Amino acid sequence: MAIRNVREMGEEVLKKTCKEVKEITPRTRELIDDMLDTMYEACGVGLAAPQVGILKRIVVIDVTGEDPYVLVNPRILEQSGEQTGYEACLSVPGKTGIVTRPNYVKVIAHDENMEQFELEATELLARAICHELDHLNGHLYVEKVEGPLMNAEDVEGDE
Ligand code: NI
Repeated sequence: MAIRNVREMGEEVLKKTCKEVKEITPRTRELIDDMLDTMYEACGVGLAAPQVGILKRIVVIDVTGEDPYVLVNPRILEQSGEQTGYEACLSVPGKTGIVTRPNYVKVIAHDENMEQFELEATELLARAICHELDHLNGHLYVEKVEGPLMNAEDVEGDE
């Protein structure tokens, strides 16, 4: 278990499309453990593998601080509704902006044992899933910001 270096906007690795995971190797498990450590250390609610420089379709998400999800090869099956609110990203430190996302998503993924599962999510968890899945396709939330990118410290109640 280790804290990995979080890549920041401007680095090429954040613009690439990630590859499907075919099997969970000891290295993959180490990566997942490190991603969780790195996310918690940075007080983030989600982290995608390219943010630590690895082009694999893996994300970790925990919007409550005690209920982590590991999503391997995640795919959105359904989405509906709309939510508009502040978003931030560990790869864009100190910034925030307003992004509209679906208010509900249903996602299919594999867990850290390659067991397939479905997850239904609303509100912040749905937002986090959409944000992290965008990373796997080389996209950052700043591409979707409505209005200016702001300094997080200027915005109270920033999520
Ligand atoms: Ni992000």
